[in-house]
Amino acid sequence: MNNLPLFNAPRKIAPHYEPDADIVLYQGDTNDFMETIPDESIKLIITSPPYNLGKAYEKKVDIEEYLSGQAQTIETLYRKLRPDGSICWQAGNFVEKGEVFPLDMYYYPIFKNLGLSLRNRIIWHFGHGLHTRKRFSGRYETILWFTKSEEYTFNLDPVRVPSKYPGKRHYKGPNKGKPSGNPKGKNPSDVWEILAAEWDSCFWEIPNVKSNHPEKTGHPCQFPIELVERCVLALTNEGDWVFDPYAGVGSALIAAVKRKRKGMGSEKNKEYVDIAHKRIAAFYNGTLFIRPLGKPVHKPTGREKVSQIPPEWQSVTQKRLLEKREDYE
Ligand SMILES: C[S@@+](CC[C@H](N)C(=O)[O-])C[C@H]1O[C@@H](n2cnc3c(N)ncnc32)[C@H](O)[C@@H]1O
Repeated sequence: MNNLPLFNAPRKIAPHYEPDADIVLYQGDTNDFMETIPDESIKLIITSPPYNLGKAYEKKVDIEEYLSGQAQTIETLYRKLRPDGSICWQAGNFVEKGEVFPLDMYYYPIFKNLGLSLRNRIIWHFGHGLHTRKRFSGRYETILWFTKSEEYTFNLDPVRVPSKYPGKRHYKGPNKGKPSGNPKGKNPSDVWEILAAEWDSCFWEIPNVKSNHPEKTGHPCQFPIELVERCVLALTNEGDWVFDPYAGVGSALIAAVKRKRKGMGSEKNKEYVDIAHKRIAAFYNGTLFIRPLGKPVHKPTGREKVSQIPPEWQSVTQKRLLEKREDYE
């Protein structure tokens, strides 16, 4: 089912750092594990850290305490990163008594003070989630992509997406009449324009991993593999190490080996490590369902039963539509 089987037989997964392993999956605290990795050995660190929301796997603490713990971990991560390497830090919001604290704003100075340079603040937009009552429902999170130096890997071609208007041509200048786009597709973009309509999307429309997603496991907030895959393809080369310090159920490791990189992760919760092992085994034997990179997000046609307005709502909806029309007239 996965489209890129890599090796003929499953390789050994090392439980501790081994330079020759294809996968290292450590069960325990990431701060202990990192001490065993050589400095400047990792090409891409990609993670979604615990958000301090009081999820099943974390104890909620004061935001200052949370951030100072994270700053120490990030300092060590920085040492482990190769000079041409990247860090992708995916974060959402910390919410307390209805007040939203956008975590990427708090994380930014931690990385910046270490001398890392921000290359993109990627919006990860998803169409579903909790419906809030006293503020707008949150439908995106961000990925901060930092590099350690100016000499970093960026492979655009493998992550290009189909152009919307491939037939567009230059209308003046020396290339007049020639196609103006790139035959390999366009840059997938990182830009959120507030008025951009979703169908015209610059968003990274990768479905949030929730109950209807084919990759869903028992983990409350796992990465979609395709989200990591795009970063792996763009920011690393074959054979490079990709490390997720908060590996959860191993999504980043799977994305790495799927693309012929080496995957490394640390996860303190044994239950998640066990699931990660099962998923990796399923990946190697071809039974892990992975949503293909770049597959368009399903858009309802309006004919589905769930797209129909319930008969009980019809009078309310009619009235609302008429009111809306008046707003525009
Ligand atoms: C947001 S989840 C990451 C999920 C992951 N991206 C995936 O696709 O499964 C954060 C994970 O970090 C783990 N964790 C929290 N603190 C940790 C620590 N100090 N060392 C290792 N893992 C930790 C949690 O158990 C949790 O699974």
